[in-house]
Amino acid sequence: ASRALGASFLRISLGPKSGRYTYGEEPSALQDILASLEAEARRGTTVSWEGEGYLLLSAPLLSREGRYGTILAVLPYEADPPQDAGEMFSAIVSYLASGLENLLLRVRLSEVMAELSEAERTLIEQEKLKGLRDALAYLAHEIRNPLAGIGGLAKRLQKACQMGQKEHRYLGLIVREVERLERTLADVLDYLKDPICCYESCEINSWLDETIYLLSADPSWRSIEVVRNYSRDLPPILCDRRQIRQVFLNIMVNACEAMKGVGTMKVRTRMELVKERTYVAVSFEDTGGGIDPAVIDNIFNPFFTTKENGTGLGLAISNKIVTNHGGMIEIENVPGKGAIFTVYLPLRRAGL
Ligand SMILES: Nc1ncnc2c1ncn2[C@@H]1O[C@H](COP(=O)(O)OP(=O)(O)OP(=O)(O)O)[C@@H](O)[C@H]1O
Ligand SMILES: [Mg+2]
Repeated sequence: ASRALGASFLRISLGPKSGRYTYGEEPSALQDILASLEAEARRGTTVSWEGEGYLLLSAPLLSREGRYGTILAVLPYEADPPQDAGEMFSAIVSYLASGLENLLLRVRLSEVMAELSEAERTLIEQEKLKGLRDALAYLAHEIRNPLAGIGGLAKRLQKACQMGQKEHRYLGLIVREVERLERTLADVLDYLKDPICCYESCEINSWLDETIYLLSADPSWRSIEVVRNYSRDLPPILCDRRQIRQVFLNIMVNACEAMKGVGTMKVRTRMELVKERTYVAVSFEDTGGGIDPAVIDNIFNPFFTTKENGTGLGLAISNKIVTNHGGMIEIENVPGKGAIFTVYLPLRRAGL
């Protein structure tokens, strides 16, 4: 552009982020007038100014969408000012402006394309996940009924037939494995369905006591000491009792499994303020050696388990239930010592 114009100095100023491009040396004597011409161009006017032996030209770079910046040129001349300089200048200005417009459009287009393909990927992932969930739900349903039939028949055979010790043991194995598969299927179906909450007023301390009482009937709890530390002035909260019991059970069973049946579990309740919201917090602290830090980020993922016979759904289901209640589950982990799982349930007083 500077060669076509025969300019000794040319400056293109774009937006604040895109910077300035200059050709030639700015004549220092003309600095002030150049600055004022540039300011005019920034306001949108094309201006020219004749000095002694100089023609100064300045114009905004315009597109359909607005102003990109300005262009400024210093054209030295010997005798008379160049005749066609003004026309040449406007031609160059419009050429530059349309070039810039094209370039920016192309940049924007590639950004939009990138955004679109990202959105498309997310959609496809969601669709795939939904398909997988549907397939899993279908499979679980299809297996459940015949499985119940097999279990029932095996039990009947156990009672009805006179058989040898070996055969009796085989049938016992069938019954036990069928029961385990039924539990796994029930967990999968539980996880897949969106739980509908039946909210009712619940005294968390007594609900915990009942749950602990239920658990302690199981022989695996015989060598576990349960230490209770309840806040006595907890208000009742609104929650789905059955679901919350399932959360407590899942966490306590995990604690028992981590302690391999021997240790101490401390259960503590209190009110706690988190980000200006009041929660009833229920903590379960075990002495089971804690969670391996290498896997701690995965433990809420469905089907993640480190246990031979685990489904890996206990915490995923619990997390879904607690989140549905407007709460959260937090973990303090001390590797080598134990883990503390805290369930936060928002305080929604009955009647509110
Ligand atoms: N109290 C705990 N101490 C140590 N590790 C734990 C504890 N609770 C959970 N974990 C880890 O988190 C994993 C996931 O737990 P989750 O309850 O979701 O599944 P699971 O117990 O393996 O199987 P499921 O509960 O479905 O029978 C466990 O396999 C275990 O590695
Ligand atoms: Mg579990």
